[in-house]
Amino acid sequence: MTTIARAIRAALLTPEPRAKCFATRALVRAWRRGELAWDFDVAMPDQPAWPDAPELLPPGRMPKRRKAGSERGRIALWHSLAHIEFVAIDLALDMAGRFGGAMGREFVSDFLDVAADEAMHFALLARKLESLGSHYGALPAHAGLWEAAHATRHDVAARLAVVPMVLEARGLDVTPATLERVRTAGDAHGAKILTRILDDEIRHVAAGTKHFLHCAETAQKEPESYWQELVKRHFRGIVKPPFNDSARLAAGLSREFYAAIAY
Ligand SMILES: [Fe+2]
Ligand SMILES: [Fe+2]
Repeated sequence: MTTIARAIRAALLTPEPRAKCFATRALVRAWRRGELAWDFDVAMPDQPAWPDAPELLPPGRMPKRRKAGSERGRIALWHSLAHIEFVAIDLALDMAGRFGGAMGREFVSDFLDVAADEAMHFALLARKLESLGSHYGALPAHAGLWEAAHATRHDVAARLAVVPMVLEARGLDVTPATLERVRTAGDAHGAKILTRILDDEIRHVAAGTKHFLHCAETAQKEPESYWQELVKRHFRGIVKPPFNDSARLAAGLSREFYAAIAY
């Protein structure tokens, strides 16, 4: 019987997207069936393995978004979403593998469920790109998405504060407008994909918030001010409106957390 840490590490170190999705879903199934030993006997890599394409560019060097209605604009949109979901697989795996030993079984189950969702989201988006005659890797992608994970690799409370509760919560804010645009353009299939992603992401933010509250309790800190302190220290971007307050609240993230530090 292999260990939970070895299975997660192997998926993180699988570069090819389809193979990473396959490894992730297989390990989550094995975990649910009780086929992985509860042992955190290997460390997680500092950087997961990724494919040669897409080429990763710093935000300032990303090509300007093309006109939204054009064919190339549509491909650029789905490609950028596919990249976010691809990195999200590794973010969830790293969360479970790096902090699971200290945080316990419920934490591991929650973040492995997230990893399986992200693998499904990526697969849906990769297929969408293919239906448009493109593929994941055809365009350059944003290099900065792993930065927040790296910056918080020593502190689970900071990781929870920044990854699910800032970055994934940001997805809740921006997805409805994208969904509306896609729907208006007559792309019912695309709208269906985004609706599913939005529903799942509420659960991801909720998992992050739930475990962050445990951390705050353990540290005997007031959750909102603890979160604000960690975000200020570890997140290089800004927390900015418009906020999807109702989706955030459905995930347990009330305005008391983010209103005070929003720009
Ligand atoms: Fe996702
Ligand atoms: Fe997510």
